[in-house]
Amino acid sequence: MMKPRTTFTFLLAGLSALLGASPALAADTSMTVKLADHAVPDIEQLPPGHYKDLVQYGHALTTRTFAHIGPEVLNVGKRYAGNNLACASCHQQAATKPFAMPWTGVSATFPQYRGREDDISTVEERVNGCMERSMSGQPLPLDSREMKAFVTYISFLSRGIPVGATVEGAGMVQSKMPNRRADLEAGAKVYEAKCSVCHGPDGQGVRAGQPGDAQGYIFPPLWGNDTFNNGAGMNRLAMATRFVKHNMPQGTSFDAPQLTDDEAYDVSAYMLSKPRPVKANLEVDFPARWNKPVDSAFPPYLLGAPADQHRFGPFPPLVEKQRQMAEQLKAQGVAERAKAAEADRK
Ligand code: HEC
Ligand code: HEC
Repeated sequence: MMKPRTTFTFLLAGLSALLGASPALAADTSMTVKLADHAVPDIEQLPPGHYKDLVQYGHALTTRTFAHIGPEVLNVGKRYAGNNLACASCHQQAATKPFAMPWTGVSATFPQYRGREDDISTVEERVNGCMERSMSGQPLPLDSREMKAFVTYISFLSRGIPVGATVEGAGMVQSKMPNRRADLEAGAKVYEAKCSVCHGPDGQGVRAGQPGDAQGYIFPPLWGNDTFNNGAGMNRLAMATRFVKHNMPQGTSFDAPQLTDDEAYDVSAYMLSKPRPVKANLEVDFPARWNKPVDSAFPPYLLGAPADQHRFGPFPPLVEKQRQMAEQLKAQGVAERAKAAEADRK
């Protein structure tokens, strides 16, 4: 599905190079893929065989994680995930929905620098990042069939998208946070009006079957024991606000949000103010402290602000402090690292 467009772009680039236009045009970086117009590759079109089997398993692991590697599966050795969510509880539509952290095109972006480890990370390590945090569980062994299936499924979704291409719809919609502390009471009201019908008044969601049957949820829990832990990306208020604003209530798409910025911010803060599983050893995250996002709400803190501000804002003053720190690093010649810090702060 991407092939004709890729070829066309390269033809154009080749033509302009012939005509003496900037050779920079010939680079893959000139290519933009708009996920909203990009056909989701169809697994059924694959010829039968090992590859199709693995892509299918990757798809199943993504949409029904709880049934294959969840904490209630019969095979105790496969209980890698610590909760009964699915990857697709957040990476919606089997990880193809624009601006719900889709995996389409992600293969071409790895290996990549990650501030959390201050190192270059592979896609396998990224999968395990979500296994240990979003899924509150254990890392998958690198040589397991499950890890191979995730990587193969991600690669299948990424077919035809070259290294360096811009993917419109990757990650989440970036937006500025309101410059104030989140209002938990206002958030509770938004929750009651717009979330509790599905996620329940107590945030525990609605099970598909009975506890213990590994059938997961119709509506996943937002807090309590069976959800993402405090080290997860979703536990960052800015991250949760962006996700909620452009994806919730269920059915919302990025181009027609149903919540205002203030509502998304307050309701996300309300959700994150509730108890959830605690990840051990979070203090070793972000070994290069200047890379630590200002809304990572666990110690140690670098900017001299109270812990509450990292949890509930206001964030713009913290972002400004961190920007100044990055400037100082640049002045000291640590420009590359400062650049990484800037990218991570967005
Ligand atoms: C509770 C929500 C949640 C769940 C469940 C979840 N993730 Fe994620 N995932 C995120 C968030 C948020 C990000 C991006 C933010 C970040 O960088 O921390 C992310 C990022 C990723 C990325 C990188 C995407 C990119 O654009 O570079 C991969 C790959 C990934 N997750 C894989 C998985 C897999 C595999 C599972 C299931 C085993 C999973 N995730 C479950 C929230 C979740
Ligand atoms: C109509 C039902 C519905 C409503 C209303 C709704 N959600 Fe969801 N929500 C879902 C479903 C279903 C999922 C799982 C995603 C999927 O399967 O596509 C989900 C997933 C989530 C997730 C990520 C998974 C997790 O368990 O953490 C968050 C966070 C979330 N919703 C927050 C909210 C907030 C906040 C509101 C209110 C503004 C809201 N939702 C309203 C149905 C709903």
